[in-house]
Amino acid sequence: MSLALPRSLVLIGLMGAGKTAIGRRLATHLGLPFVDADHEIEQAAGLTIEDIFETYGEPAFRDVERRVIARLLGGDIQVVSTGGGAYMDMDTRALVAERGISLWLRANLDLLVARTGRRGNRPLLKRGNRREILDGLMKQRYPVYARADITVDSRDGPPDETVEAALAALAGYLDHRNDAADGR
Ligand code: S3P
Repeated sequence: MSLALPRSLVLIGLMGAGKTAIGRRLATHLGLPFVDADHEIEQAAGLTIEDIFETYGEPAFRDVERRVIARLLGGDIQVVSTGGGAYMDMDTRALVAERGISLWLRANLDLLVARTGRRGNRPLLKRGNRREILDGLMKQRYPVYARADITVDSRDGPPDETVEAALAALAGYLDHRNDAADGR
């Protein structure tokens, strides 16, 4: 499928939703560069996200996160995967709305619990019971994530299934945008 994006595609969603894995594959399909905002934050700070949280605290992390995403959205068109909290920031949300196309990778609790069990480097999930924390974050964040331009369910199967669904949703969204621009 060949789709020309007028803006960067920004993946949002909770930890474990598959933003990086799906984002990377989407970028390949779209012939665009892929960038992971969390990775960029670590590069910019010269520290891991865990270390930033531990040494400077979450507000400092959110500050760097906001600035890094603003920089990424100021550049060429690309696929950007963001950390789960990024879209909760009002300024980042406004910037994504202005300069990007947001795609929420929605996942159910069981999937998130299973997927986040594989990697133990997420500071927010170390504060207690992982399932309870993720459940709380879903309640708090899903109503906000729902404002994204596109919503795609993250499937519990081969990543390509989710990628195909995302590409189809993206094509539908772009068609609709073109129709609106043509006044159809
Ligand atoms: C966070 C998600 C993480 C990372 C940080 C905080 C969040 O990214 O940015 O640990 O607030 O949900 P992933 O969603 O890529 O795991």
